[in-house]
Amino acid sequence: MADQYARPGEDNQSTDIPVIRWEEPPEGPVLVLLDQRRLPAEEVELVCTDPSALVEAIRTLAVRGAPLLGIAGAYGVALAAVRGFDVDEAAAALAGARPTAVNLAVGVRRAQAAYRAAFAGDGDLRQAAEATLTAARALHQEDAEASARMARHGLALLDELLPGGGHRVLTHCNTGALVSGGEGTAFAVALAAHRAGRLRRLWVDETRPLLQGARLTAYEAARNGMAYTLLTDNAAGSLFAAGEVDAVLVGADRIAADGSVANKVGSYPLAVLARYHHVPFIVVAPVTTVDPGTSDGASIEVEQRPGHEVTEVTAPRVSVAGVEAGGGIPVAPLGTQAYNPAFDVTPPELVTAIVTEKGVVSPVTADALAALCDSSRQV
Ligand code: MRU
Repeated sequence: MADQYARPGEDNQSTDIPVIRWEEPPEGPVLVLLDQRRLPAEEVELVCTDPSALVEAIRTLAVRGAPLLGIAGAYGVALAAVRGFDVDEAAAALAGARPTAVNLAVGVRRAQAAYRAAFAGDGDLRQAAEATLTAARALHQEDAEASARMARHGLALLDELLPGGGHRVLTHCNTGALVSGGEGTAFAVALAAHRAGRLRRLWVDETRPLLQGARLTAYEAARNGMAYTLLTDNAAGSLFAAGEVDAVLVGADRIAADGSVANKVGSYPLAVLARYHHVPFIVVAPVTTVDPGTSDGASIEVEQRPGHEVTEVTAPRVSVAGVEAGGGIPVAPLGTQAYNPAFDVTPPELVTAIVTEKGVVSPVTADALAALCDSSRQV
């Protein structure tokens, strides 16, 4: 367990604890999560022994980020199956824990289908539970592989769009190993550029109100020895105006069939800024994030979160070099109403490219996206 902030160059991994793992102690199988609410102050494990604990962990963002939500959802169904809970009830609760990241429902459905198929075969509950766990493990592994492919495609695209090298990349929210079976989505591309010696600077938006950029992306960047600088979200405009941003790299929680991209709130303003300043706005996401069942951006359900996340500083209380900071401190008058959408939607015409494990879509059109997702060929 880490008890202090990581320093740049300290080591080469995101955390000392795996973000998610299945364990089978004598008391019965459990799902162990790295509690992301506590980062960067502490690396603390959260042990889920039943699906409702996992639902709570998802709602409160102990586990978060689209690909990881899919993996967690699948393991949650496996947990229900092996521990004898009602699998359909657990699946419904898990899939509904957060509405925007489609990966969550996709992961849950995949594990649930494995359970049903195995149970329909011979009615053996133990074997059905085993099949559900196998499905969750397969999804976990596939996500790791997808992550590596996205990094490769994303770096090739960056190099093509920015032939001079020395990329200065702005990113928003957290899209690294903390959200994935591998090294993530957008962050994995920046990390690949760093390893290739072609990342000059990673600009990290703090990402109000839950500070995924400040708490999590800065943490991952530091631990990977990347050159990074943290900024408040509203400082991005002046950074573009100063010509300091060569590309924007973000992830996605759901991509509609028309190519509209739902991602952490604040992504859309970045896309508008990027267009004005002629800077590529690149979305990196696995094909599981593309939802053919959602026709356009207006049809994406955007999660609305509690107002206190805005009216208070909600970062966990931490101690840095003996100085206390953060932790539920009110910053607005008592009773202030807050508008707190967790995500916003960027229309396809503002997206330069969508990078997936199967390749790159650019320009972003419904037909190109459908063709890429339908192709079974892995690039
Ligand atoms: O509310 P969060 O922290 O779950 O939001 C996460 C994001 O918006 C990420 O950018 C998105 O899930 C893509 S991560 C690959």
